Amino acid sequence: MADCITLNNGHRIPQVALGTSRISPEKLEVTIKRALDMGYRHIDTAFFYGNETVIGKALQEYMESTNLSRQEVFITTKLFPTYMKGSAVGPALDESLRRLRLDYVDLFLIHVPCAMKELDFYPEKPTQPMDFTSVDLRETWKAMEETIYRGKARSIGVSSFNAKQLDYICKTARIRPAVSQVEAHARFPQKKLHEFCKSRNILLEAFCPLGSPFFIGPKELNKIQSRDNLVEHPIIMDIAAKYKRTPGQILLRNLAQRGIVVIPKSENPQRMKENLQISSFSLSEADMNHIDEIDNGERRFVISWWKDHPEYPFHEEF
Ligand SMILES: NC(=O)c1ccc[n+]([C@@H]2O[C@H](COP(=O)([O-])OP(=O)(O)OC[C@H]3O[C@@H](n4cnc5c(N)ncnc54)[C@H](OP(=O)(O)O)[C@@H]3O)[C@@H](O)[C@H]2O)c1
Repeated sequence: MADCITLNNGHRIPQVALGTSRISPEKLEVTIKRALDMGYRHIDTAFFYGNETVIGKALQEYMESTNLSRQEVFITTKLFPTYMKGSAVGPALDESLRRLRLDYVDLFLIHVPCAMKELDFYPEKPTQPMDFTSVDLRETWKAMEETIYRGKARSIGVSSFNAKQLDYICKTARIRPAVSQVEAHARFPQKKLHEFCKSRNILLEAFCPLGSPFFIGPKELNKIQSRDNLVEHPIIMDIAAKYKRTPGQILLRNLAQRGIVVIPKSENPQRMKENLQISSFSLSEADMNHIDEIDNGERRFVISWWKDHPEYPFHEEF
């Protein structure tokens, strides 16, 4: 089982989550149940992934057939950008909860800062791109806070926000974001954003912690197919051999040792197991510094169809 970190509101979050975006649909149910069997206690999903219904079924069946209680699992979901108007946030979470068969989620994140034109229905799997719209991020945040008051979310946070956007909502927030989920890996370790988050007592979570080596995205993301595979990087492979661990474990341990939550996706039982086993060893300071040499500032999720959105987060350095 993974170690836990205490959030700024006192709730505890397991430091390794199973990423569920892009788990093959036919393997999703078995993968969720297998992950729970292995000791995963944190599952990261989103309305956008179109998989909440299957995850909800798998979770319920697993809890009914074992001693696992709701309090022992940490479930994260995310607000889709078509529901960022204040009046739409609560109903969107209610829909996610219905799909997940839950009364509350442990963590509810604004998926992206770029609002899209509101939908008055809930597609099973939303498609993109959609029309832009403008919603004040403070309006969305206020409605996120309401989800806590209504008991539907235990913690709230953001995803793919830059520091200015985080600061903007913090200035008027009654409830400070507990978590900032962003792309982070050895090529793009997010040192500056991490320092900013630490100064505000906001926990950083790393999506694509392995560098998302095999992601083949929609047309506008295709250029990242040429990305290198960090598990084959010579520095990572050397350190893995030295510690008798796998390269994947070294990449994840590097982030975890910096106090970051990691969200590796795997549907391969062996890799799922190894990704969970990163708390029984430590990297030396010299090896942590050596991994820093891989940083080349390469953001891999640029999401080019957002680029003209007024809240596009990545025009800023961090
Ligand atoms: N908030 C956001 O906007 C956002 C955006 C992107 C992703 N996410 C979250 O982050 C999660 C992870 O992102 P990701 O899937 O793009 O990237 P990732 O976790 O960095 O990489 C996943 C890839 O690495 C492989 N892999 C897993 N463990 C491995 C290991 N130990 N050694 C070698 N290869 C390994 C997986 O293949 P196998 O399955 O075959 O093992 C898969 O192809 C997503 O599932 C999602 O939950 C959030």
